[in-house]
Amino acid sequence: MHNKTVLTGVKPTGTPHIGNLVGAIKPAIDLGNEVVKAGGRHFMFVADYHAINAEKNPAVLNQKLKEIACVYLAFGLDASKSVFYRQSDIPEICEITTILFAYTPKGFMNKAHAYKAAVDKNRAAGKPDDDLINMGLYTYPTLMAADILAYDSDIVPVGKDQVQHVEIARDIAGMINAHYGKELLKLPEYFLTPNAVLLPGTDGRKMSKSYNNVIPIFADKAEIKKAIFSIKTDSRPMEEPKNPEEILVYQIYKGIATPDKTEEMAEGLKEGKLGYGHIKNMLLDAVLETTLNAKEKYDYYMAHFDEVEEMLSNGAQKARPLAQKTLERLKNAVFGR
Ligand code: TRP
Repeated sequence: MHNKTVLTGVKPTGTPHIGNLVGAIKPAIDLGNEVVKAGGRHFMFVADYHAINAEKNPAVLNQKLKEIACVYLAFGLDASKSVFYRQSDIPEICEITTILFAYTPKGFMNKAHAYKAAVDKNRAAGKPDDDLINMGLYTYPTLMAADILAYDSDIVPVGKDQVQHVEIARDIAGMINAHYGKELLKLPEYFLTPNAVLLPGTDGRKMSKSYNNVIPIFADKAEIKKAIFSIKTDSRPMEEPKNPEEILVYQIYKGIATPDKTEEMAEGLKEGKLGYGHIKNMLLDAVLETTLNAKEKYDYYMAHFDEVEEMLSNGAQKARPLAQKTLERLKNAVFGR
C-alpha cells in the first residue's frame, strides 16, 4: 500500500443499513486510513453526478448527500487526511469524460451491468428496452472511469457489482495509452473488499432496502430490535445441537461481531446452550455496539453540516489541481498541443 493512491466513490443513497456498513463502508474507510498511514493517498468522494441519473428531486438528493457524507465521517473517515469531496465540485471530471467518450466503444456501455439490469427490468415489465433509461445511466461507466483516472488511482475498493466498471476504466485507459504510445493514464486495479460477501437480510435474501429486509444502523433501539426479532428461525428446541452455518441470525452476526464473539455463538449453538432468543439479543448488542459512538458523531455532523461543507470544499481544492493536470495531459495528446 506504500505510496499508492486509493479512490473510493459512493453514490448518495441515503442512510445505509448494516449490510452496506460492514460490506462496503467500513472496509473502504479502513483501507483509506491504512493507505494514508503508509504514506499513500486516499480520495473519497460523493458521486452526485451519478446520482442525478436516478434522483431528480434536489431536496431529496441533498438530504441523501448529507446523510452519506455524515455516515462516512461518523465511521472514521478523517477529512484532514483523506481527500473528501463532491464529484460535482470538480468540473474537469466532465471534460475528461468527454475525451474518454471518443475512445470508449459503445459496446462497453451495452454490456455494463447497471444498464443491462435496467433493460432486463423493462423487459420483465413488458416495456420497451430503453424505457426511462437516460444517457447518464447508459454512459455511467465512462464518467466513473473519469473519476478514477483523473487522480492516477492505483486501487479502487469496490463490491462485486462495481468490479466490471473498474475493468472498463482500465480498458479505456489502456486503449488511450496504446494509441498514443505512452502512459497518459494510470491503469487502475479493483480491490474486492474482503467483507464483500453480502450480508443476508432478515428474510435470508441479500440485505437490501428494496426487499424490506434490512437492519437499520441509526434507528432507535426498538426499531433495530424489531428488525432483528423478525429474523426467520425454526421451531427446534434450544437443546438440539445446531449447525451455526445454517442459522440466519448467526450468518448475520458473523459479519458484525468480533471473531471471539462469533466463536462463542457458534459453540453455544453446536452444544445446544443458546436459543434463538439468546442469539437475537447477542446480535442486537453487536449492532448497537458497532453503531454506538458513530451515532453520536453522525447526529453531530447532521446538525452542523456547515462544518461538513467546509471539509468538502477543502477536499475539492486539493483534488482539483490533480484532475486539471490529468486533463491537460489528455488535451495535449488528443489535440496535439
Ligand atoms: N458507481 C459507484 C456505485 O454505484 C459509485 C462510483 C462513481 C464510484 N464513481 C466511482 C466508485 C469511482 C468507485 C470509483 O456505487
